[in-house]
Amino acid sequence: SAKADRRIWLDEQKALRHLPHRDPDAHKGQSGRAAIIGGSMNMSGAVMMAAEACVRAGAGRTTAVIPDDTLSAAAPQLKEAMYLPLPSESGEFARSAWGKVPEAVHADGVAVGPGLGRNVTNDIFPLINQLDIPIVIDADALLDLASDLEQLKIISRTSPVILTPHPGEMAVLTGLSIEEVQAGRFSLSAKFAKTYGVYLVLKGRETIITGPDGRQWVNSTGNAGLAKGGTGDVLTGMILAFLLQYEDPAEAVFMAVYLHGLTADYLAERADQISINASDISHELGTVICQLKQKCN
Ligand code: APR
Ligand code: MG
Repeated sequence: SAKADRRIWLDEQKALRHLPHRDPDAHKGQSGRAAIIGGSMNMSGAVMMAAEACVRAGAGRTTAVIPDDTLSAAAPQLKEAMYLPLPSESGEFARSAWGKVPEAVHADGVAVGPGLGRNVTNDIFPLINQLDIPIVIDADALLDLASDLEQLKIISRTSPVILTPHPGEMAVLTGLSIEEVQAGRFSLSAKFAKTYGVYLVLKGRETIITGPDGRQWVNSTGNAGLAKGGTGDVLTGMILAFLLQYEDPAEAVFMAVYLHGLTADYLAERADQISINASDISHELGTVICQLKQKCN
């Protein structure tokens, strides 16, 4: 059908044309400043897994923006990151912290969501409204977004918004059941991305990436070893890092999804799927990109 023609299958042949690269004269300023907002007392690992993935995917500088009472738990998890602690309340960002975020964050791109928690009300709208830089919205931040989706239609920004729901989060965003989301994942993604003017990454086996113009890419990589906590957080960090390095946001997002899955496939060739850890993806990403680059020659 005409619609299916607009779908691009993301396989090796496609990926080889869009591999990340670095300018020989590069300095860290050019690779971009990333800020990842997330974490809570019980989930300090989520934001740090995203930060580690962001570093490994090539961001020039990565700052973890975290609730201040989680700093001592988060900081030892990653030496390469910087930290911006903001006021906390019962182990999560204080409600008042959200208004301070746009001014506090000095970055070229931002991700929000991993490990935020939902006991204290999150408010990501100041970020979307006041920071005109690429923004990745994931995990618990998607649930806050769902509370006032219409705002996405009225804000004026030139930088891309990328949403990365798993089917359960997509169900909350659309008000449908998970079964309904899965049954109509292509048309639903296209309608959603066009209506709200966003890039949508609907995760799961054969993840679908949809652009605000309705173009779709379908990922061929990844395996059930990814069905383990933290792998989505790693993807979020990778997407953010690539947004800072690619000119075309669509390319950044689909290459992050492809390489995330491909690294999981690489890992599953060496150890059983059940044993894949999210951080392993960050650790082996460089090896996998290197192998692909050898195929280009
Ligand atoms: N085959 C291929 N890929 C898979 C499969 C599968 N069977 N199962 C999962 N994946 C991939 C998804 O495509 C996605 O990239 O693994 C990743 C899982 O992402 P999430 O569902 O976001 O998982 P997680 O990292 O645990 O999320 C952490 O955020 O979404 C919230 O509720 C979640 O609090 C949790 C946190
Ligand atoms: Mg997730």
